[in-house]
Amino acid sequence: MNPSIAITAEPGFEDQARKLAQRLGLEFADSHAPEYSFLLQLTQDRLQLQQTGNKAPGPIYVEFAQGKAAHRRRQGEGRKTPLARAVGMKADFLPDVIDGTAGLGRDAFVLATLGCRVQLVEQSPVIHALLEDGLRRAAASSQTREIVSRISLLLADTAEYLGQLPATARPDAIYLDPMYPHRGGKALSKKEMQAFQKLLGEDRNGPGLLRIAMETAKKRVVVKRPRKALFLGGQAADFQIHSPKTRFDVYLTAPPANSA
Ligand SMILES: C[S@@+](CC[C@H](N)C(=O)[O-])C[C@H]1O[C@@H](n2cnc3c(N)ncnc32)[C@H](O)[C@@H]1O
Repeated sequence: MNPSIAITAEPGFEDQARKLAQRLGLEFADSHAPEYSFLLQLTQDRLQLQQTGNKAPGPIYVEFAQGKAAHRRRQGEGRKTPLARAVGMKADFLPDVIDGTAGLGRDAFVLATLGCRVQLVEQSPVIHALLEDGLRRAAASSQTREIVSRISLLLADTAEYLGQLPATARPDAIYLDPMYPHRGGKALSKKEMQAFQKLLGEDRNGPGLLRIAMETAKKRVVVKRPRKALFLGGQAADFQIHSPKTRFDVYLTAPPANSA
């Protein structure tokens, strides 16, 4: 059963919230609406997704200008970080990237911070709305405006989008981070991933996405996986790049100019 979701608003933001509710095909509700599993709350500061219930974790929202994303930007994570190496960034080469599983846009923001142009594609209208709001706020901040000018956002199913992409628009790299089935036990996923799993369910189309991505990317497809996970769809990668918590499986679609 799909979890139920409604839109609420802080006083003064009701009209805007009603328009958003209409666009997303969701109910507009009073601010306290425990009969829904999730509330998409329009506040003075941002759009945020809040689970309901006594033990619900805090709200989820997209944040590029403050917090961890800003910290990473200040730290100047370089072109040698695992994600940057995985998409094929070099001192003299910045790939353009389609991120086919946008989520909260964090990986895309890292790539855009390093100078890549990134096309985000997100299938969920609710997550897309959160991203749109985060990008709008980041574009209003002098600290992040230039970075997010390299990010564009699309609401679509990535397989369909890639299927109709003209040859002239093929990107250097396609990045995929499909939701990984939660296996329970010790390693609880982060609150966002738990909410994502509840809201969206498991991504079942990962292997299909990999197939069409490989037909579309000019140079490579990168799949983010938990460190010990099996290859997506059982398809072995050309090579892997490891980071402390994650693994990037790299599938080459063209012979590398020089080694990765
Ligand atoms: C694990 S999250 C990605 C997190 C992201 N890498 C980040 O840094 O925030 C997976 C996202 O991919 C989206 N997704 C999965 N399959 C998709 C598809 N076929 N087309 C578009 N989006 C898809 C899901 O809706 C979800 O928001």
